[in-house]
Amino acid sequence: MSEYKILTGDCLELLPNKRSIGSVDLTFLDPPFNQNKDYSHHDDNLSPEEYWGMIKDVCQKIFAVTSVGGAVFFMQREKNTEEVLRCLRESGWTLQNLIIWKKKTSAVPVSSKFGKHYQIIAYATKGDKARVFNRLRISPPLPANYKKEER
Ligand SMILES: C[S@@+](CC[C@H](N)C(=O)[O-])C[C@H]1O[C@@H](n2cnc3c(N)ncnc32)[C@H](O)[C@@H]1O
Repeated sequence: MSEYKILTGDCLELLPNKRSIGSVDLTFLDPPFNQNKDYSHHDDNLSPEEYWGMIKDVCQKIFAVTSVGGAVFFMQREKNTEEVLRCLRESGWTLQNLIIWKKKTSAVPVSSKFGKHYQIIAYATKGDKARVFNRLRISPPLPANYKKEER
């Protein structure tokens, strides 16, 4: 069994650690969404400039400690997709997929547009492709008009 350590604290302080460079293979990034939620150690009501500046800083710091071929999964609200892709791109990440996480909860009805039943998860790698990629363990049935299975 491999050893692991759980670190608690401010990622902006913990990540810039020279000993960690190249030691991280995968990050799941699920930051606060700047919706004025009540977090004990985080101001969730920043200006858009402060918020996206901080998020880009986090993306850069994760990139610095990630091994070549390592990956990040970055979850956000659908309306922030453009900013998410920009932050990843400008901090050196290579986008592989935009995953749509279909949620079964918190779909708020809206009269003027489609309801938001999902969140996005941007999957990106350090370098052109992932060093390790495990396919899904389930094979969803092919849509009727598909002739070949994806490889
Ligand atoms: C959207 S929640 C993530 C929830 C988590 N995925 C879960 O399932 O419990 C965002 C989390 O980021 C934490 N957070 C905010 N700023 C942080 C920072 N600078 N360093 C580390 N964690 C931070 C918040 O305290 C909060 O727990």
